Amino acid sequence: MVKLISSWCKDVQSIPKNYVQPPDLRPGELIFPVKSGPVVDLSKALGQDRAGTIQQIMQAGQEFGFFQVINHGVSGSLMQDAKSVLKEFFDMPDEVKSSVFTPDASKKCRLYSSSAIYLNEEILYWRDNLTHPCHPLEDCVQLMPGKPTRYREVVGTYSVEVRKMIMRILDLICEGLGLELGYFGGDLSKFELLGTNLYPRCPEPSLALGTQIHCDPNLVSILNQGGVSGLQVCKDGEWFLVEPIPNAFMFLIGCQLQIITNDKIRGVEHRVVTNSKEDRISIGYFVLPTYECVIEPAKALVSTCNPPLYKTLQYTDILKAYAEKNGSHRGMMESHKLQVE
Ligand code: OGA
Ligand code: NI
Repeated sequence: MVKLISSWCKDVQSIPKNYVQPPDLRPGELIFPVKSGPVVDLSKALGQDRAGTIQQIMQAGQEFGFFQVINHGVSGSLMQDAKSVLKEFFDMPDEVKSSVFTPDASKKCRLYSSSAIYLNEEILYWRDNLTHPCHPLEDCVQLMPGKPTRYREVVGTYSVEVRKMIMRILDLICEGLGLELGYFGGDLSKFELLGTNLYPRCPEPSLALGTQIHCDPNLVSILNQGGVSGLQVCKDGEWFLVEPIPNAFMFLIGCQLQIITNDKIRGVEHRVVTNSKEDRISIGYFVLPTYECVIEPAKALVSTCNPPLYKTLQYTDILKAYAEKNGSHRGMMESHKLQVE
C-alpha cells in the first residue's frame, strides 16, 4: 500500500495530530525575511574573474554555508523539463507508483513519505520523496522509474548536466583551498543521488514542517527549488527563506566538506516550511562518499598552528552517529570533534 501524503491530503482542512510539530520546533505564524544569500555567477569563472569567483565561493562557504549559482551552464529549459517530468511522476496513480514505494531504506530506488532518517517517527514531515542513484548514468538508468516514459531520458540528461556544474565548482573550491585539483574526486564523491521532494499544499503551515532542521550529511548538495520558496536557512540564529532566483541552483556545503576543510567552509543548518497555496517540488542532487571512505581534515590544511578539529572516521560510522543523534547536525559534528585539551 502506498502511504504518501499526496494520496490523501488534497481535501483536508487541518493536519492530522502526528504532523503537528512540538511548539519549540514549529515555524509559527512569523513572516520570515526572504533573502537570496550570496549569488555566484559561474560564467565569470571562465573569464578573467576566476580568482574573484573563487574568493566569492570561499567567503560564501565560510559565512553562509551555501550560495546560489547563476549562469551555471545547465539550461533553464532542462531545469523546467526535469521539474515537469517529476511532477508527472508524483501525479501518477498510486497503483503505478507502488512499484517503487518502500519503507526499506536499503532499496536503491525508493519512494517514501516523511523523513528517511527516522524509522519509527512519532511526528511526521509533510513531504513525499523519490530518491535513486544518478551516476554513473549507464549503471543507474535501469534503477530509475520506468514511468512516466520520459523519466529516464530527461532525468538522465539533467543529472549529467548538473554533475558537470558540480565538478566545476568543486574544482574552484579545491583551488580556493590550495588543494590539488581533483581532490574531491574518487571515493569522496563516488555516490551520487537524485532526491526529489514533493511538499504538497498544507492547510496549516505554521504547525508542520516539510523537513526537520538538519545539515546534509554528505559532501555537497545542489538544490533546484523549482521556483517556489520553502527552504529556510539559519544564519546567526535567525531563520530566513531563500529566495528562489529563477533557474538558479542552491549549492549547499555538506558536513563532510566542513570536516575535510577543517572548518574553512562550513555546513549550513536548514529546514523546509510548507505553504497553503501551492505544491512545491524541489530536486536535490547529493554527492556522497563511499561507506568505507575515511573522512578527516585534509592533511594539506592542518599544521601545528592549525591542528585538526575532527577525528579520522569512516563515513559509515559518521552516518551511524547521525542516525543516533536523530539527524542532528550539531550532534553529529560534536561526536566527530576532537577533544582539544
Ligand atoms: C534536503 C533538503 C530542501 C528543499 O533534501 O536535504 O534540505 O528545499 N531539501 O527541499
Ligand atoms: Ni538538506
